[in-house]
Amino acid sequence: MTDSVQENSQLLAAFRNAMRHVAATVYAVTTSNYGQRYGILATAVNSLSFDPPSLLACINRDASVHDPLVAQGKFCVNVLAQANRDVAEHFMIPTAPDRFSVGSWVDVEGVPVLESAQSSFVCKLAAIHEFGTHSIAIGELLEARHRMDAAPLTYFDRGYIDITGAPEHGER
Ligand SMILES: Cc1cc2nc3c(=O)[nH]c(=O)nc-3n(C[C@H](O)[C@H](O)[C@H](O)COP(=O)(O)O)c2cc1C
Repeated sequence: MTDSVQENSQLLAAFRNAMRHVAATVYAVTTSNYGQRYGILATAVNSLSFDPPSLLACINRDASVHDPLVAQGKFCVNVLAQANRDVAEHFMIPTAPDRFSVGSWVDVEGVPVLESAQSSFVCKLAAIHEFGTHSIAIGELLEARHRMDAAPLTYFDRGYIDITGAPEHGER
């Protein structure tokens, strides 16, 4: 192994270790193409702009959802609630024949929306930028749903944590 390869693998290990300790909201990024539903769990999602309302999702180009999402030109970012942990766990079963058999999914603008999600953002694909292993999919909002009564499913150190015990505003 050359020094530079070893340095790269150490750098990647350090990066993975550091990112493990970044608490992140869990999303289900979904799409449909030719009647088939696709979806992955994702944490690399963020709001992008208010005008136009838009967000971005970073999607591995090898992920099953990637090419159908690009082909369909629409996708949904479902912000998973703590009550959707069963959906998240089911999405991560590699042998599951149908990722959408857990949870109540409806089609909005032709893409799957989880009815019980904390929020759902149905987007049209406005731009896509490739970088390294991933694509940054930029979505312009077509429709948004939000439940005020839900708490986000949060991923931290390879497990789910409950952030509802965090201090309220003003209690800090
Ligand atoms: C908590 C968590 C967060 C993830 N975040 C992302 C992400 O932001 N982007 C991504 O492409 N894959 C992410 N993944 C991996 C995908 O969910 C998925 O397992 C992988 O892309 C393979 O998908 P496939 O079996 O549909 O091809 C994440 C997995 C977990 C468990």
